[in-house]
Amino acid sequence: MYKIQVIIGATRQGRFGDKPAKIIFEDLKKIADVEAELLDLRDYPLPFFDEPVSPNFITEPYSNPQVAKWTKKIAEADAYIIVTPEYNHGYPAVLKNAIDYVGKEWNNKPIAFVSYGAVAGGTRAVQQLRQVVVDLQMTPIRAGVHIVNYWDHLDEKGELKPDAVHGAQALFDQLLWWTKALKTARG
Ligand SMILES: Cc1cc2nc3c(=O)[nH]c(=O)nc-3n(C[C@H](O)[C@H](O)[C@H](O)COP(=O)(O)O)c2cc1C
Repeated sequence: MYKIQVIIGATRQGRFGDKPAKIIFEDLKKIADVEAELLDLRDYPLPFFDEPVSPNFITEPYSNPQVAKWTKKIAEADAYIIVTPEYNHGYPAVLKNAIDYVGKEWNNKPIAFVSYGAVAGGTRAVQQLRQVVVDLQMTPIRAGVHIVNYWDHLDEKGELKPDAVHGAQALFDQLLWWTKALKTARG
């Protein structure tokens, strides 16, 4: 089994991010050999990064129980899908903080991105994330899902229509390829 975590990258009240994250999570669960998990940064209220050492050197005992909980959770996965909005042409500070808290547990694993926003569909946030994860020795995959003007893809109940996550199959295919390859290599 390959464990893949879907991470909701925004925490603000009334956020939209739950909707694409849940569609991606439900589709991911249907893939054979995949154990999918949905992670919500609200469940990991980390302080702003304040460790005396680089995350690569953070080990047990952890200074903060939330840091321990988050780090151990990330360590469990073979791959990740981050679902992110675009805030001022970047990605949310809470997401950067959560990324920065973890070091070696991210290493040598693939990561994919789902984004949403106005005309750019969150792509500027994703391009920044790709640069960041390279420093964590991760493999950002090419395929992504970018929902342009997401409010145009809501049904009468305000729910996101499933076809709004256009491109999800290519994302899953590429992510699985890299997940298998890198798990074998790590092993
Ligand atoms: C601080 C802030 C900055 C924003 N900047 C952008 C932006 O640069 N590009 C964009 O497409 N949308 C931007 N938006 C609009 C967001 O796409 C929209 O609010 C979206 O719902 C945010 O995701 P969330 O609801 O999951 O937090 C911004 C929203 C906030 C709150």
